[in-house]
Amino acid sequence: MEELVMINGAISKPSEAKISVFDRGFLYGDAIYEVVRSYSGKLFAVEPHIDRLFLSAERISMKLPYTKKQYLDRMQEFYQKAPFDDAYLRIQISRGEGPITLDPYAPTTVNEVMYLRPLKPHPREYFERGVPVVIAGVLRNSKKAMDPDIKSGNYLNNVLAYKFAAEKKAHEAIMENSEGFITEATTSNVFCVVNGELWTSPDDSDILRGITRNIVITLAQGLDIPLKKKNFTRQDLKNADEAFLTSSTREVMPIASVNGDVLKSSPGPVTRRLQQAYYDYVKNA
Ligand SMILES: Cc1ncc(COP(=O)(O)O)c(C=O)c1O
Repeated sequence: MEELVMINGAISKPSEAKISVFDRGFLYGDAIYEVVRSYSGKLFAVEPHIDRLFLSAERISMKLPYTKKQYLDRMQEFYQKAPFDDAYLRIQISRGEGPITLDPYAPTTVNEVMYLRPLKPHPREYFERGVPVVIAGVLRNSKKAMDPDIKSGNYLNNVLAYKFAAEKKAHEAIMENSEGFITEATTSNVFCVVNGELWTSPDDSDILRGITRNIVITLAQGLDIPLKKKNFTRQDLKNADEAFLTSSTREVMPIASVNGDVLKSSPGPVTRRLQQAYYDYVKNA
């Protein structure tokens, strides 16, 4: 079996998995989600993902029917139906179905969809030589409007940004905010290394605080790599000694170029240390 879907606890073949056209995830992107991966038959960092799922739910006033422990059990049980060594598991919870109205109190029960498939690994050369990125021509949503720290089912901002990467055959598109600062990429966080210091955007900036970003920050502290959570510009990124992306599926992925301008090193020494530390962390998790 290659892929599996579970809708509100019932397993479906992907081709038969259906959800109502009145589901608010479909109508408005009124949903939240998480993506977890496994290594060697074990879901990785699933608890922080569930914590973030609850944070997202709280921020959009969505009432979840289960406890964190129950979600953990549901995800583990689903994963056991097809425990690919390296799996991609997505859980999406919409506010549910109801009459077509924006009123968030109209639907009564949430819809939960889980999806599981083998993880498609990124080519080794991405990790060994880095990937090209572009700066998107659309800005990241402002925290004051549609907070990127809510991992919602509304990814249109990111879809529009990704278009720039697709058109330039780049791996990712990085979005700036209205002040001209780098925020994050469409599905990853951004780090750069300047004079031995590791920089990443502040926690309260227009970003999703990635689980991988948090792990990398902790690893950097353990390795005594000086870390600054600070705003930086596209020029800072282009002039950086090294830069990399982080996400659950990308781990620590070096950036080779920004808008065609090749960075000084990819991967540089700090990136390589963090890649190794991340692999060690995963092995011992
Ligand atoms: C917008 C955005 N930023 C950052 C990330 C990285 O998050 P994580 O490290 O939790 O996978 C993601 C992951 O999908 C994302 O969608």
